[in-house]
Amino acid sequence: MASYSQYLSKEKEDELRSIAQAIVASGKGILAADESTGSMEKRLQPLGLENTEENRRVYRQILFTGNDELSNYISGVIMFEETFYQKTDDGTPFVELLKKKNIIPGIKLDKGVVPIAGTLGEATTQGLDGLSARCAQFKKDGAQFAKWRCVHKISSHTPSHVALLEVANVLARYASICQQNGLVPIVEPEVLPDGEHDLARAQKVTEVVLAYTYKALSDHHVFLEGTLLKPNMVTPGQQHSGSKYSHEDIARATVTALQRTVPAAVPGVVFLSGGQSEEDATKNLNAINAFQGKKPWALTFSYGRALQASCLSTWGGKPENIDAAKEILLKRARANGAAATGKYSGDSADGAAGQSLYVANHAY
Ligand code: 13P
Repeated sequence: MASYSQYLSKEKEDELRSIAQAIVASGKGILAADESTGSMEKRLQPLGLENTEENRRVYRQILFTGNDELSNYISGVIMFEETFYQKTDDGTPFVELLKKKNIIPGIKLDKGVVPIAGTLGEATTQGLDGLSARCAQFKKDGAQFAKWRCVHKISSHTPSHVALLEVANVLARYASICQQNGLVPIVEPEVLPDGEHDLARAQKVTEVVLAYTYKALSDHHVFLEGTLLKPNMVTPGQQHSGSKYSHEDIARATVTALQRTVPAAVPGVVFLSGGQSEEDATKNLNAINAFQGKKPWALTFSYGRALQASCLSTWGGKPENIDAAKEILLKRARANGAAATGKYSGDSADGAAGQSLYVANHAY
């Protein structure tokens, strides 16, 4: 086997390792607030709000300007490009505001999911062209980490070898380009929850997806200590009508899939919420952390819907509700911070927190 020249300098490795470790510090996780303009349409429209740049800014301002206690539980925020360059009412750039609160700014780099022609509805994710220059610019402007989301669908004939290979490779290329530019890549190969499959099939597919992913990261010399994985939890399909599964069943299936495929060099796993209700996402994370077994990585959250849903509906587009909306976000963050150490006592299960946030074929 050929030998390779140094992929990253020692200094770059140290920098990436310390960013990744700070993101998954004990009891902390990520707020995924990187909905694209199209996804924000789906969030704002039910509130009767127009999807304007200003309304998107006002909403993100609510997320970022709450009580400083938030940074006890939220280590990083992922932003869409537009949000990354927006400012608060008093002209403070969001990036500066977050840094002052000791929250690490992150950027969504992918440019969305596109079909792989000839497959059974499978997809890859675009955005590699010009990516190195974009990474360099975002790093200069204050980003320390990045996200790139790919998706797989479970059906009788998917995921296929071609989709597994393509998605793993595009994630590895993205991760390599990020690291060259000092950004910690969050690698997100999401297995969608759509389908009638049971827990065992979800577990097997997740294992296969992760095995392809880490083979590609190895082939591309990606420095695993300076990466984070953002997977789905292993859950039965949303349309599954057979057995009911407990939080402990989901925890066992999820940790087992990770044990079989994710190298111990990876510092942390930051789960997406994937349409689970806020309360389920918290309870499943808690069960995962309470599960007794080998877990060489931090296991925490990078939730979008499961951190924002109650906050968004409490706000409802009305200025007089802003303080209450900030309070409910803090409550969810606190609950997930506790779950990230396996110490959630189940005391935040009120109101909308139990409502399913599932959307078929979810785009981001
Ligand atoms: P959800 O937690 O809403 O699934 O989204 C997280 C995310 O960032 C998906 O890419």
